[in-house]
Amino acid sequence: MTPVGAVVSALAERFQRAGVPSPVADAELLVCHLTGWTRGEVSAKAFMGAELDADVLERLEPLVARREAREPLQHITGEAPFRALLLAVGPGVLVPRPETELVAEWAIEALRQVPAPTPRAVDLGTGTGALALALATEVPNARVWAVERSSDAAAWAARNIDRFGDGRVSLIHGDAETAVPELDGTVDVVVTNPPYIPDAEKPADIEVLGFDPADALFGGEDGLRDIRTFVTRAAALLRPGGTLVLEHGDGQGAAVRAIATEAGFRMTATHTDLLHRERALTAVR
Ligand SMILES: C[S@@+](CC[C@H](N)C(=O)[O-])C[C@H]1O[C@@H](n2cnc3c(N)ncnc32)[C@H](O)[C@@H]1O
Repeated sequence: MTPVGAVVSALAERFQRAGVPSPVADAELLVCHLTGWTRGEVSAKAFMGAELDADVLERLEPLVARREAREPLQHITGEAPFRALLLAVGPGVLVPRPETELVAEWAIEALRQVPAPTPRAVDLGTGTGALALALATEVPNARVWAVERSSDAAAWAARNIDRFGDGRVSLIHGDAETAVPELDGTVDVVVTNPPYIPDAEKPADIEVLGFDPADALFGGEDGLRDIRTFVTRAAALLRPGGTLVLEHGDGQGAAVRAIATEAGFRMTATHTDLLHRERALTAVR
């Protein structure tokens, strides 16, 4: 038996030495994963001098070694929070990011404005299904199509859609460039988080470079290759007056607005996140 507080401090120190970006949070979250406690409960138990059982400590050690090797925490626990959902994640799929939750918010707002009894949304490049499922669960009358080209990623999406999709999310395993032609001109909202990092730009975090699939990250020489394809496809899918919500990288706002205008969109706007970084385009067909 070892005090919870001492375990968390020791793990946080090891994570700090390994260069883990959020050492205390990750130490607490690994303890949560094995005990079923919330982070608040971990803090409260540490404050009260509670102890961790020897068997928990034994099961903790291999997980800690994996995190020290900079495997993403979400691959170790097998799950990633995204808005109200806890999605299954692992090798072969992008771990959904907190900043994408904001993109989901804008798409959800647009979908809620649609007067139709069953508004339609398409998520191009769905990965775990994060955006598609956020839309389906937060707009309960919506019908959603989730398109994904990678077989590995589609397998994770299928699992999450089975669990959370409520029978209203269809997974389309195929290329966004040609997917769901039967929906052309009928979709109310297209949401997408395409790959947008220029090929030569290597992400600094080992968790990203070593574990997120390259197909999910890199968007050609200028980072805009897939954005061009996805915007063109969105223009065909959307009905007149439909909304595109597209995540992109900081500094890509002007170029993405130009791509959207050229594809026939109007009312193009760049949105920033809480750190004032350019984060997404919204545009109307
Ligand atoms: C940046 S990830 C976004 C994943 C998920 N939407 C999210 O926000 O967490 C981009 C996704 O698009 C998929 N993708 C890339 N090119 C594609 C294409 N041409 N057609 C369909 N999916 C594509 C990748 O496999 C990857 O899952």
